[in-house]
Amino acid sequence: MEGYIFDLDGVLVDTAKYHYLAWKEIAHSFGFELTPEHNEQLKGIGREVSLRQILVWAGKTLSEETFHDLALRKNERYLQYIEHIDATELLPGVLSYLQHLKAQGKKIALGSASKNARLVLERTSILPLFDTIVDGTMVSQPKPNPEVFLRAAEGLSLSPTDCCVFEDAPAGIKAAKAAGMKAIGVGDAQVLAEADQVIPHFSDLVLSI
Ligand code: BG6
Ligand code: MG
Repeated sequence: MEGYIFDLDGVLVDTAKYHYLAWKEIAHSFGFELTPEHNEQLKGIGREVSLRQILVWAGKTLSEETFHDLALRKNERYLQYIEHIDATELLPGVLSYLQHLKAQGKKIALGSASKNARLVLERTSILPLFDTIVDGTMVSQPKPNPEVFLRAAEGLSLSPTDCCVFEDAPAGIKAAKAAGMKAIGVGDAQVLAEADQVIPHFSDLVLSI
């Protein structure tokens, strides 16, 4: 494998919990209790699509204006949560695995739905390790569409079949497979059943991947 493409939230950085907390607060504001099970389906999905999905679950319709207001409030809340994050928020084993790949001359990319991806990479001090970054400001089709990963492979000048993807979300695993890449799930093997391989976290990572 030549190219290693990483999702951000929940794979490199422990920020998935902040997205969940922010969405939970927004949903609560219109009387809907968002559960961890709902949240599992929102992982890897951008802001507007997530809010639309929550409204379907809640059986709510909002005016365009309120919709945009809530989407904005969610992001403001998320930004407050991540205001003081630093490298301690990196998930276990992430830094040494990225450094190991670098030392091996492998190419490293980010493939994330987040529009705040650069900010998170900067704050956790891993930005310089990436050869290319594709984030939510650059793609038009959300995961499970493969666009984000295909663009990452393009950015690395590699063929999709030479790339593997690390993902914590079912939608991201689907996107990686649709891109023709090897999909490695990070987390729960049952939730990520469609992955080619699942690791609980990077500490246990077999360095041969
Ligand atoms: C993804 C997270 O990485 O970023 C989602 O898995 C989150 O939970 C999304 O919603 C954030 O997207 P945005 O559009 O708010 O930057
Ligand atoms: Mg994720």
